[in-house]
Amino acid sequence: MKISRRSLIAAAIAAVIVAGAGGWYLTSAGPSRAEADIVVYKSPWCGCCGSWVEHLRRNGFSVAVEEREDMDPIKERYGVSPHLGSCHTARVDGYTIEGHVPAREIKRLLTERPQAQGLAVPGMPIGSPGMEQDGQRDRYAVILWGDQGSQVFAKY
Ligand code: CU
Ligand code: CU
Repeated sequence: MKISRRSLIAAAIAAVIVAGAGGWYLTSAGPSRAEADIVVYKSPWCGCCGSWVEHLRRNGFSVAVEEREDMDPIKERYGVSPHLGSCHTARVDGYTIEGHVPAREIKRLLTERPQAQGLAVPGMPIGSPGMEQDGQRDRYAVILWGDQGSQVFAKY
């Protein structure tokens, strides 16, 4: 195979991009999926998702991050209906966590172990973990959802 100068330059540029992506991914690197308490699926372009991951880590969870450009198949796989939808989706111990759910509610879920699919904070309320904005705070509910319907698990 004859390698042209142009393809060498292209390869060099590609290597830089890969290295750049590798560096970028390092910021969300963590334990493997098997080792982690919780697996978070999120878009690589989502800042508030990254802040929520940091919130989980500060609260003692070991978190594995799976970057997905298209989140729709994940929401579909775990049965997250559009009215519950938010940015990221996480899996912990058989439960699905949708959106900016506070870590303490996830801990409560894992202690109480109700029969449910999981928890959701629909949309992206200001003031929820990962959505902090000085002085501003929306009221929001953490929803426990499943085959039996939905109910309010906590209010903020
Ligand atoms: Cu978000
Ligand atoms: Cu998010």
